[in-house]
Amino acid sequence: MKNQVRIFSPATVANVACGFDVLGFCLDSIGDEMVIRKTSEKGIKITKIEGYDLPFETEKNVAGVSALAMYQDLNPDCGFEIEIYKNIKPGSGIGSSSASAAGSVFGINELLGKPLSKSELTKYAIKGERLASQSEHADNLAPAIYGGFTLVKSCNPVQILELPTPPDLFATIIHPQIEIKTSQARAILPKQVDLKDAITQWANVGSLVHALHTDDYGLLRAALVDVIIEPHRKELIPHFDELKKQVLNSGALGCGISGSGPSVFALSKGKNFAEKVAESMTSIYSDTDIAFEVHVSKINTEGIKLI
Ligand code: HSE
Repeated sequence: MKNQVRIFSPATVANVACGFDVLGFCLDSIGDEMVIRKTSEKGIKITKIEGYDLPFETEKNVAGVSALAMYQDLNPDCGFEIEIYKNIKPGSGIGSSSASAAGSVFGINELLGKPLSKSELTKYAIKGERLASQSEHADNLAPAIYGGFTLVKSCNPVQILELPTPPDLFATIIHPQIEIKTSQARAILPKQVDLKDAITQWANVGSLVHALHTDDYGLLRAALVDVIIEPHRKELIPHFDELKKQVLNSGALGCGISGSGPSVFALSKGKNFAEKVAESMTSIYSDTDIAFEVHVSKINTEGIKLI
């Protein structure tokens, strides 16, 4: 059996406009790399972190926390070292903590001969995600682990539905280089919502799921609307309204906040539109003094993988 694996743990977009805490999809071109190694000494150690300044203490690192939860339950007769090569900036809104939390449990599972299912890996990864956001949600973890579009039916017990990916769908992401902590972006949300808004939102979620099943890009366009969360969180993202207007004018099917922000995503039919959207995003933020990155990505239907 292998003693070491190197993995690619992808960035993800959670919420997908209307599906707060339940919908997500997986990106192709952005992600972290991690190396997980078996050791004769028992326990979980984080031995290397490159890219960003994150804690080495196992209990304070999301990758360490998810690995420990799995390790304590499985109690194997070996230990594991984790190296993290972080490309996804923490607090960027494209699933940085989820990539780490999913990566460690995926890697350990590979080294133990895959005793756990994707759903069990998600259960342990949720423990790491909880450290970062102070709440249990799996809408970034599920697409990282399963690939494609996912719907989190329930976190406890974990029940993830894999949704189809229409073949021509492309994502464009702008990541303004400011940090928004998920816990902060959750704290500003209202505890109650209007029934009228709830009806609009669940009609949109149902329509989005149907659109993915039927490759109905027109319905997808109509469904990519968030009337509950975006009105509050957009205040945290400079130039959001202007950005969204330009993105939709460029032909995107829809545009919204990626996870808890500050990244903003758009979905388009075909790579040409996705690239036009990237130009619009670039032109809006080029007029500001905020540094930013723009990515165009296929939807990654494979998810986390060995490299
Ligand atoms: N659904 C989560 C949120 C994703 O929007 O707060 C970020 O972790």
